[in-house]
Amino acid sequence: MEEFSQIESLREHLAGLRCMGESIAFVPTMGNLHEGHLELVKEAKRNAAVVVVSIYVNPAQFGEGEDFDNYPRTMQQDREKLENIDTSILFVPSDGEMYPAGDRSPATTVEVAGISEQLCGRSRPGHFAGVATVVTKLLNIVQPDVALFGQKDYQQLLVIRQLVADLNLPVEVIGVPTFREDDGLAMSSRNGYLDAEERERAPEIYRTLQWAGDQLEAGREDYPVIELEAIEKLRQAGFLVDYFSILDSGLHSVKNGSKNLTVLAAAKMGATRLIDNLPLNLR
Ligand code: PAF
Repeated sequence: MEEFSQIESLREHLAGLRCMGESIAFVPTMGNLHEGHLELVKEAKRNAAVVVVSIYVNPAQFGEGEDFDNYPRTMQQDREKLENIDTSILFVPSDGEMYPAGDRSPATTVEVAGISEQLCGRSRPGHFAGVATVVTKLLNIVQPDVALFGQKDYQQLLVIRQLVADLNLPVEVIGVPTFREDDGLAMSSRNGYLDAEERERAPEIYRTLQWAGDQLEAGREDYPVIELEAIEKLRQAGFLVDYFSILDSGLHSVKNGSKNLTVLAAAKMGATRLIDNLPLNLR
């Protein structure tokens, strides 16, 4: 695995590979890699000859009082995991390389209106602008043929698909299904914040999504009532609920009869904010 921290040298290297006709897949991450990230890399390898992974904890997508300072940084273990699955290239830029003006918010930012303000955007103002800006920068730096993102961050995936379409970026975005622990908890770097008791309760978020999915499969269309019942279930399991929403797959309100739905939840277990979602194709 070759490692780069400078944009210019990464670009030179990738230009050489492109000249030799190699296709490039890109997996942007913030590190602290778990099995879910490694699945993205494996899927990337099925899509291109060269796989670039970036590790960069992007300050611009964390709000005041969020976990930027405590976000787990495990570079040596991450490097080993990526080496073990034959990743071609690791890109680990510094803050100075990504934001040379030394500002969390550069003069030019990318905001995806419509999708970004709701759900996680409501409780994390500025988060999706931070994500959209860094992802646009990274896509311009790497210029991959395909880029892969986890469906666990479903709203983020739609934000990225929208910016790629609107800015005519020549990259195919692939969403990879959520990878789960045996008890159903979606894999996330933030799961490491949970203490033993919280970890035991945390899978209830997925069980509640599945319960709502069963209600919808059974033909219920009283979406607000299902949402309230689900919120109550989560409260009883010890969560502080941010939202539990039944929307269509584009994250618009559901019209009766809609078949492609997404059920999304965000809730705090102790100090840890967890998100998860369930895509549904009703018959
Ligand atoms: O999903 C993440 O890890 C981050 O939001 C991303 C896409 C790497 C941008 O910083």
